[in-house]
Amino acid sequence: AAPLRVGIAGLGTVGAGTVRLLRANAELIAARAGRPVVVTAVSARDRHRARGIDVSSLAWHDDALTLATDPDVDVVVELIGGSEGAARTLVETALSRGRPVVTANKALIAIHGAGLASAAERAGVALAFEAAVAGGIPVIKALREGLAADRLVRIGGILNGTCNYILTAMRETGRGFASVLEEAQALGYAETDPSTDVDGIDTAHKLAILAALAFGRPVDFDSVHIEGIRRIGAADIAFATELGYRIKLLGIARRSDQGVETRVHPCLVPNTAPIAQVEGVFNAVVAEGEFVGRVMLEGRGAGAGPTATAVVGDLIDIARGSLVPAWGAISGSLSKLTSVPMSAC
Ligand code: HSE
Repeated sequence: AAPLRVGIAGLGTVGAGTVRLLRANAELIAARAGRPVVVTAVSARDRHRARGIDVSSLAWHDDALTLATDPDVDVVVELIGGSEGAARTLVETALSRGRPVVTANKALIAIHGAGLASAAERAGVALAFEAAVAGGIPVIKALREGLAADRLVRIGGILNGTCNYILTAMRETGRGFASVLEEAQALGYAETDPSTDVDGIDTAHKLAILAALAFGRPVDFDSVHIEGIRRIGAADIAFATELGYRIKLLGIARRSDQGVETRVHPCLVPNTAPIAQVEGVFNAVVAEGEFVGRVMLEGRGAGAGPTATAVVGDLIDIARGSLVPAWGAISGSLSKLTSVPMSAC
């Protein structure tokens, strides 16, 4: 069968990881996708940066937009990041040209998801974003497929690897916030601007996407109450430990008769709670449904390998033709529920 030809825009940690994974597991991916999935074109700012991958055989685009219109590209993978600018223009252009898009961009989906999903619907192509929420945890699939029969009442959890890494390391070593943050950045977990992580915005992006899927409403980032971990000091962590608790940055979305409440803030969780055991760069998504009860998925929420598996999983779906083109839940086709702000844990 004809290969699925992939164009990747953005060759940072995740982009290079995606190229590496597609090459390392080429045979098994081809077997599972029913045809080879090959990278034919890439785009990034600096062609000569060392990335540990050989890009010499690939078409190079200095401008991501020309990648979207490259005749040798069947599907565009957007790994530039950011809700505006190059990433948004690239995704809009690709969809308007009838090309499916795979993205890891949670800010873009959280803020413009409804409009982009409508554009994908109109074009009859896929807009896939498994990698946008909780890295290696296949939570989008779990919600869309595994839990499709149930009515969820709650979704959320630990959605930012950098924050969880910082809180864990502060507790284990007694070190200060800044030095631990530097370490997380060096490991490639943090966003380009780390305030997106530590101020809770990245968690809120992911929560907005999860809430849209879980409750069948358009993504609504503006209604999320957000508080980050910047003000957590060594003393807070020591007191929590003394009382038998851990501090976790949680994103929580809950449905009630009044509507959907979405909030992000540090929480005290008892040491014995399963979510307290989720440490370091690990994320955990907890869902609760009327029939299924409570489900917890745990895995690495950031980094090259985990995020690349999510990107390539979406590519395999597209190669097979098994990804439905539209995602009605975020495109606004369902009525928007009222949002109730709340700040208590
Ligand atoms: N900066 C994010 C995190 C990367 O630390 O979880 C994955 O979205």
